[in-house]
Amino acid sequence: MKFLISAGPTREKIDPVRFLTNFSSGKMGYALAEAAIDAGHEVVLISGPVSISPIDKAQMLYVESAEEMFEKVKSEYKDADIIIMTAAVADFTPVDYYENKLKKEGRDNLTVEFKRTVDILAYLGKKRSENQILIGFAAESQNLILNAKLKLNKKKTDWIIANHIGISGIGFQSNDNAVTMIAKNGTSIDFGIQTKKELAQKIIKVILEDE
Ligand code: CTP
Repeated sequence: MKFLISAGPTREKIDPVRFLTNFSSGKMGYALAEAAIDAGHEVVLISGPVSISPIDKAQMLYVESAEEMFEKVKSEYKDADIIIMTAAVADFTPVDYYENKLKKEGRDNLTVEFKRTVDILAYLGKKRSENQILIGFAAESQNLILNAKLKLNKKKTDWIIANHIGISGIGFQSNDNAVTMIAKNGTSIDFGIQTKKELAQKIIKVILEDE
């Protein structure tokens, strides 16, 4: 099977020295890529800027912005059997890019206007073929299961992996995580706090068993 996995944050540039990003470390996406390879599968890993070494056996494709990630996903998704959007894609990007560094002189405040980026997972939900399995993540700080189910329906995925952000010691940056996998038929599986590596192996197993 061919897996297409996205990982890490994106960077949305404001000027040559500044950008908008988020706390994603890429660890969960990279762990999923490793687990899929260990299970004997082919992996294309589209990675935002992270400080993790490339995975030898994966085809590594590096991107910076949400727009670049969208372009790479569009050119790679068609022959993938299983697509997992782990990346924390920025929802907003600056309306204008300043070619020169914004200077502080003469400003007490700075307002930067942002516009929405393309929702890549929702795009895939519309475009993918019926025999492709699509999995998204839902990072939520409140009403985890309800919001995750709404995302699954809205983005037309087969699974949504609900990730509670804001619990100290797990999630963003951490080596550990705790998630609930929710299938489109409503069944759910809880995975308590464990390493992202262990979690990734279990998630890949569930996805392949369901296939
Ligand atoms: N996602 C995406 N493209 C975006 C934003 C998010 O493909 N522009 C994907 C993520 O990779 C993840 C899922 O959508 O698989 C959910 O991301 P999340 O940030 O939890 O939710 P959003 O849809 O961005 O909604 P909100 O921030 O309002 O909760």
